[in-house]
Amino acid sequence: MTYIVTGGAGFIGGNFVHYMLKKHPDDRVVCLDALTYAGNMETLADVMDNPNFRFVKGSISDRETVYAIFANEQPDVVVNFAAESHVDRSIDNAGIFLTTNIIGTQILMDACRKFNIKRFHQVSTDEVYGDLPLDRPDLLFTEKTPIHTSSPYSASKAAADLLALAYFRTYKLPVTISRCSNNYGPYHFPEKLIPLMIVNALSDKPLPVYGKGENVRDWLYVLDHCKAIDLILQKGRVGEVYNIGGHNETRNIDIVRLILKELGKPESLITYVTDRAGHDLRYAIDPSKIRGELGWQSEIRFVDGIKLTVQWYLDNRDWWSRILSGEYSSYYKKMYEERTRLI
Ligand code: NAD
Ligand code: TYD
Repeated sequence: MTYIVTGGAGFIGGNFVHYMLKKHPDDRVVCLDALTYAGNMETLADVMDNPNFRFVKGSISDRETVYAIFANEQPDVVVNFAAESHVDRSIDNAGIFLTTNIIGTQILMDACRKFNIKRFHQVSTDEVYGDLPLDRPDLLFTEKTPIHTSSPYSASKAAADLLALAYFRTYKLPVTISRCSNNYGPYHFPEKLIPLMIVNALSDKPLPVYGKGENVRDWLYVLDHCKAIDLILQKGRVGEVYNIGGHNETRNIDIVRLILKELGKPESLITYVTDRAGHDLRYAIDPSKIRGELGWQSEIRFVDGIKLTVQWYLDNRDWWSRILSGEYSSYYKKMYEERTRLI
């Protein structure tokens, strides 16, 4: 089998590449990644010499490049992780989110049709369902929850999902979609909550908590997500959407406090800042479909996963220090200098 994994130099795609090469040593993995600010060759450093791995730099929204790679590699399966993935960046500038997340997905699916690919898997997000109220813990996102997006990021992901389902119905393209909750773990770009708080705390910098820190996310260790996608590729039904989540709802402020505790840093580093525009209150996944149909369930408890993650950032300072010293520093200045300190 040959898999094309797009966005494999990013956080989840990188973890997926490592996971697949280990789990399926006889299969080939070809990573197609544009190496945007979020793509990092260092994430793939220890698989570059693997004869079953190939890296190609290119954009999923470049039709010529995509078709050439498909012609060359004759892949069996395509897993699309490539995306612009950060909500705050999408609020700042939505355009590239539409190009990559929607048009890029369309071009990949056109290539899948042209080259008779056996499966196109779209890696989507629970954010397509919008948000849930904080005071209704009984409500969870199921695959039947209506699409109801809040940010340009989630709107672009929802558009790609709808397009994928349209390609299934109209062209019989063998599509599956997974909608996962927030991931955490190794190689997570430090613009996102958990790695940002870890690296700021390690540098004794303020930890910028949006609003009151009461928003809730449903965290899943990245390896559990990779295993779920692999299972969907092996056993999932085409045309279906599978929610992925491990019932781990946590308030942002509680995560930040936990990270400080793990690192032995003072809570005085916490700084409440201006809230995100349109900030989703709560995400919570009902994973009963993937559990019932495919037998998947999360294996890594949050208390353990967060320890593993903190330890990874302690052990891999070079990986994140190089990011902090590059383009990220002007991003951070721009995004966080605009936010007023509330308390
Ligand atoms: P990321 O931002 O860390 O990585 C994205 C990768 O895609 C980078 O390597 C980047 O270089 C690449 N990329 C961007 N534009 C590209 C293009 N035009 N062509 C080829 N490659 C391109 O993102 P992530 O957090 O790893 O998310 C991966 C996928 O999972 C995304 O589709 C995201 O919507 C989805 N997802 C993420 C989460 C999460 O918590 N991070 C949760 C659910 C779903
Ligand atoms: P994030 O990691 O950006 O993921 P998403 O918005 O896609 O869920 O943010 C997770 C939560 O953390 C979200 O409620 C926003 C909040 N947050 C902060 O409070 N401060 C920050 O600096 C960041 C990046 C996020």
